[in-house]
Order: sequence, then C-alpha cells, then structure tokens
Amino acid sequence: MRRTILAASLVIAACEGPDEHDHPTLTTGKQLYEHHCAPCHQQGGDGAFLKGVPPVSGSTMDYRQMVEHIRGQSRQEDTRMPTFTAMSQQEAGKIAVYMRHAFPTP
Ligand code: HEC
Repeated sequence: MRRTILAASLVIAACEGPDEHDHPTLTTGKQLYEHHCAPCHQQGGDGAFLKGVPPVSGSTMDYRQMVEHIRGQSRQEDTRMPTFTAMSQQEAGKIAVYMRHAFPTP
C-alpha cells in the first residue's frame, strides 16, 4: 500500500513542480542548487526575508542533516519549504556539498 502511494507520487512529481528531476543538463551541485533552491533561497543563499525564506548561508547543518532536510526526512511536513521526496540522495548530496563550499559557516 505504502509502496503504491510512493510510486504514484513519484510519477506526479516527475511531471511538474519543484520536485522534478528529469534535467540531464543539470549535473553540478551549483547547477542543481540554482535550479531547485535559488528560486527561494537566492543564488547567494541570503533567502528572501519578505517572503519568509530564511538564509541558507552560514547554516550549521552538516552534510547528512542537509541531505535529510532537503528530502524532507527529520523535519516537520507542514513547513513552507517543499519536500524533495523524489530527489535522489546523490542529487541532494551534491547540493549539500556545493552549499558547504559556497556558503561556509562563519
Ligand atoms: C518554495 C521555496 C523554497 C524552495 C524551493 C526551497 N526552500 Fe528551503 N526553505 C524555504 C522556507 C520557507 C524555509 C523556512 C522553513 C519554513 O518556514 O517552512 C526553508 C528552510 C530551509 C533551510 C533551513 C534554514 C534554517 O536554518 O532554518 C534550509 C537549510 C533550506 N531551506 C535549504 C534548501 C535547499 C537546499 C533547497 C533546494 C534543494 C531549498 N531549501 C528549496 C523555502 C524554500
């Protein structure tokens, strides 16, 4: 049952929305961040205060926490950030590594 729901949501996610990962030309962490995250968190990671999007620059999350956060594990489901449940661990990992380099903790 659970598996059916998961499969169905993957199909839906493949068609539209921010959790769409059929983008063969986007391969680097930078490209993936700019595609999936920058629309809200901005290229420089500053977020958008007026839209209630917090900065991600200077985040204290480690690699593992960031990957889990992106994919919606270990966080509340009702936040205003989309859960990227269809994003592969590898893709989330690339983004996490990129963010570590681009926005180092002060
Ligand atoms: C649709 C807008 C949107 C997108 C796209 C988005 N986020 Fe978020 N993000 C938010 C909002 C809003 C919050 C604040 C949590 C809340 O209030 O729900 C947040 C919170 C966060 C936080 C926690 C910041 C903190 O310290 O509290 C991190 C880290 C984060 N996002 C990373 C990412 C990454 C990485 C991506 C791309 C894979 C991403 N976000 C995509 C809107 C977005």
